[in-house]
Amino acid sequence: MTTPNDRRQREGTAGPLSIRPALESDLSAINDLYNHYVRHSTSTYQEEPDSMESRFRWFRERAPGHPVTVALLNDRVAGWAALSPYHSRCAYRRTVENSVYVDPEHQRNGIGSALLQDLLSRARALGHHAVIAAIDAEQTGSIALHARFGFETVGRFKQVGFKFGRWLDVVYMELLLEGNS
Ligand SMILES: CC(C)(COP(=O)(O)OP(=O)(O)OC[C@H]1O[C@@H](n2cnc3c(N)ncnc32)[C@H](O)[C@@H]1OP(=O)(O)O)[C@@H](O)C(=O)NCCC(=O)NCCS
Repeated sequence: MTTPNDRRQREGTAGPLSIRPALESDLSAINDLYNHYVRHSTSTYQEEPDSMESRFRWFRERAPGHPVTVALLNDRVAGWAALSPYHSRCAYRRTVENSVYVDPEHQRNGIGSALLQDLLSRARALGHHAVIAAIDAEQTGSIALHARFGFETVGRFKQVGFKFGRWLDVVYMELLLEGNS
């Protein structure tokens, strides 16, 4: 079987990939990567880049059940992922929303898959029950990635976003974590 590491070797982005919980020293790279997608993509409906001040606040205010992880390639952040609360109402407490962002220079090298696989293991270990991915309908790559991990499309909200001068639909995908009943 060809592994993402095999593929990276073949495609010249060699180097072992590792995933670990994010540290404050990763936040600048995390923010730069995220802001790239804010500026250039509908994968986030945020329109203004995040400041480092708000990034630090975002990181420091997270609960232990809502981790942030980074993928390191040759010791540099090549992607990050996070679990966030789906809703503030208490009865939603075992439902989380996931995020995965991969450096555009390193896409299609298995990094998104590695981050998502790791994140889902953490979600299971943390006792979460349902994982929701809210994905802009134009992001077919992200929809395909989540489908590979067993996420099912459970809904589509039409024209709920407006970015780059056009209305955008959001596809909701959900994974129920077996064993976490
Ligand atoms: C979506 C994203 C995380 C995928 O990361 P990645 O490292 O490129 O994904 P992988 O290399 O692990 O791809 C795994 C599979 O997902 C699917 N996939 C990923 N990107 C795809 C694309 N652009 N088009 C079609 N399928 C795609 C494929 O099935 C792929 O397997 P394959 O390469 O063997 O065909 C990355 O493109 C990204 O950061 N996009 C912008 C941010 C975003 O949309 N994040 C998700 C919001 S939660």
